[in-house]
Amino acid sequence: LLGMETKALGRTIVVMDSVDSTQKIAHTLAQDKAPEGTLVIAEEQRAGRGRMARVWHSPKGTGIWMSLLLRPSLPPQKAPQFTLITAVAVVQAIWDVCQLDVEIKWPNDLLLNNKKITGILTELQADSEQIHSLIIGIGMNVNQEKKDFPEELLSIATSLSIEKGEKISRSELVQRVMYHLERYYQIYLEKGFTPIKLLWESYAVSIGKYITARTLNGELTGVALGITDDGVLLLEDEKGTVHSIYSADIEISAK
Ligand code: BTN
Repeated sequence: LLGMETKALGRTIVVMDSVDSTQKIAHTLAQDKAPEGTLVIAEEQRAGRGRMARVWHSPKGTGIWMSLLLRPSLPPQKAPQFTLITAVAVVQAIWDVCQLDVEIKWPNDLLLNNKKITGILTELQADSEQIHSLIIGIGMNVNQEKKDFPEELLSIATSLSIEKGEKISRSELVQRVMYHLERYYQIYLEKGFTPIKLLWESYAVSIGKYITARTLNGELTGVALGITDDGVLLLEDEKGTVHSIYSADIEISAK
């Protein structure tokens, strides 16, 4: 990964061939006092993790499977904002390298032509007051061909090369993601979340739409109004009550 244009992010890179999950490795490195910006990348994950205990399909040599370690001096409640900051950085990186327009589906899905192109998983080690380490996992479907996806994923996932019709440089993408992420991390630390929230909303498909949110406590349907400064989704139901959604899977409804 020559040509990295960052000061800290991705300056220490651990490249591995086959791992169970880059998240797990990054957590271990974090405990071993690895510096902020340490990036773990693997060619293949045997047990890639998605949100809500799902499996993240990570076949060898095709996508970008990476986990970035940050150490912001912030309370743990701020962690979800990093998923949104990362989403904005990835959208812009994909635009830089492939000129493809990616949309964001709250909280962490990046979609191209309505199919999943990237997933983000933010995990943390913290006490009640302070984050010790934040591990941002990014899984990008880059050079998979249709045959590389299991049958059940073909209707819901795609890769950049399928959509673009050519092979895409993974190292350029990693560099651009790190470049934008470092930039927005800096903006966030200096100016707070508001500038990023505005950008995020401009890329978000769900805002202003009629959605169904499936949470652990059941289903809610209504209009997605936007996100709060903490990255919480606001949904207005038919009675006009506004609900704060902290964690859910959302589906955009036809209504
Ligand atoms: C999701 O959409 O559910 C999040 C998927 C996150 C996948 C990435 S791939 C690199 C890192 N290592 C993992 O095990 N998961 C994340």
